[in-house]
Amino acid sequence: MINIKSTSEIAKMRVAGKIVFATFKELEKHIRPGITTKELDKIAFNFIKSQGANPSFLGYCGYPASICASVNDTVIHGIPGDAVLKEGDIISIDIGAIKDGYHGDAARTYPVGKISDEAARLIEVTKQSFFEGIKFARHGERLFSVSATIQDYVESNGYSVVRNYCGHGIGKEMHESPEIPNYGTFGHGIRLAKGMTIAVEPMVNAGGFETKCLSDGWTVKTKDGSLACHYENTILITDGEPELLTNCD
Ligand code: MF3
Ligand code: CO
Repeated sequence: MINIKSTSEIAKMRVAGKIVFATFKELEKHIRPGITTKELDKIAFNFIKSQGANPSFLGYCGYPASICASVNDTVIHGIPGDAVLKEGDIISIDIGAIKDGYHGDAARTYPVGKISDEAARLIEVTKQSFFEGIKFARHGERLFSVSATIQDYVESNGYSVVRNYCGHGIGKEMHESPEIPNYGTFGHGIRLAKGMTIAVEPMVNAGGFETKCLSDGWTVKTKDGSLACHYENTILITDGEPELLTNCD
């Protein structure tokens, strides 16, 4: 069952989304060589709390932190810790906040200091694949047209999309129906409808699509050690263009 949100629910999702966006703005002031991912986590925790919201990842299935901090060949779910960021790293940060019973969820990949041209291209292609995909995130379109467009864009740029993890519906729960793969067949899947709120989140590997999960039960890395990027927004399907609830620029 896919929830269609009412006007008042959408208003709450806008608030949650804005808090997630503002948390990124706060963290961006601190991402540089020398900071630890644990320090970033603490900044995010404090900021989300200061907004009267709660970090939705903390305690989710036992997850021990407020953000995911995934460096270089870590694709997703990197647990913040004592690792110190260094010049040339890339870091994917995933943030979830719940406010008034509704969730916002988004991810970005950032350069740490000066990075290689190849790493910069991977970040750009990952972000752009999201924007290509959501051209089909419209009332009446088929869900897998979003998926297929992300996959095509990524693969035509020589990278691969992760298969084992997907985007998702979002609302009162962080993960609702439908599941949103970053690969698929254009013109297939359920029909999107006005009032659906979904998190579209391409996870892109510079090398092969395979991943491995570490023994901590969370950290997902590329199997071949290649770099990985993540870009995600919570969006609202409307009559026209989708509204990006976690991108308020
Ligand atoms: N943002 C992730 C997602 O889209 C959730 C992180 S998993 C958690 O599914 F356990 F850290 F919460
Ligand atoms: Co998500």
